[in-house]
Amino acid sequence: MLRGCFVTGTDTGVGKTVLAAALAAGLRARGVRVAACKPVITGLEEPTPPGWPADHELLARATGRAAREVALFGYGPPVSPHLAAELAARPIDPGELERRIVAVAAGADLIVVEGTGGLLVPLSDGYDIRRLATSLGLPLLIAARPGLGTINHTLLTLESARAAGLRVAAVVLTPWPPSPDRMERSNRATIAALGGVAVEVLPRIACADPSLLEQAARTLPLRRWLSVWRVCRRGAPAGAPTSDRSRD
Ligand SMILES: Nc1ncnc2c1ncn2[C@@H]1O[C@H](COP(=O)(O)OP(=O)(O)OP(=O)(O)O)[C@@H](O)[C@H]1O
Ligand SMILES: [Mg+2]
Repeated sequence: MLRGCFVTGTDTGVGKTVLAAALAAGLRARGVRVAACKPVITGLEEPTPPGWPADHELLARATGRAAREVALFGYGPPVSPHLAAELAARPIDPGELERRIVAVAAGADLIVVEGTGGLLVPLSDGYDIRRLATSLGLPLLIAARPGLGTINHTLLTLESARAAGLRVAAVVLTPWPPSPDRMERSNRATIAALGGVAVEVLPRIACADPSLLEQAARTLPLRRWLSVWRVCRRGAPAGAPTSDRSRD
């Protein structure tokens, strides 16, 4: 059985990698051996924004592992995985994908898996991101935008997750501004109330520096999540008091 979480999002480009990397850096700083995995990555041919490397490279940086261990199936064009796989004539085999994720997790206390796009993104015939998350049995963290449109996208994602029996640890609004406006504060409260879910926030991070990622992760309830995910740190049983500086 895997321990950890599956980071999905309400869309592509909503902050899954930033969240996954901050989470990994925050946990690593607290003595957790963290593995990270981006099972399917597309758009490898595309330039990345200044200060932010490609997903697998950022996750590798946050966990101190090699980027080649993080991305399992990689494709050049910035298109849905099922199309990228078809164009490359390199289909994604669900069994192989899941076995390789389990292998990445071996030896770590916890794995953070980043999905591709949102829950219903197809990977191959009859197999999508939601099926992958269900097979892995990991609880979800849902990255979502703080602004206009996020209530609908987030509630749809929650409904889709729960319809498949997935557990949702939290929604994380990212990047959360230092002074949220009336709408952003209302969006947070409304998603929590209508979705019946914990809504956390991740502040804006200037660039992909592990210390900045770790600092940002202090807004997240890392100790609570470790305890709920039944993760033991080296030498510290889950839930044991520590000097960690996360929010709870
Ligand atoms: N907390 C944050 N701090 C700084 N930038 C952020 C934050 N959250 C989101 N962003 C911005 O959103 C962009 C997209 O984030 P990210 O790459 O994590 O999205 P994604 O959901 O992983 O995208 P993809 O679907 O391509 O994997 C980032 O390049 C960054 O500009
Ligand atoms: Mg990403």
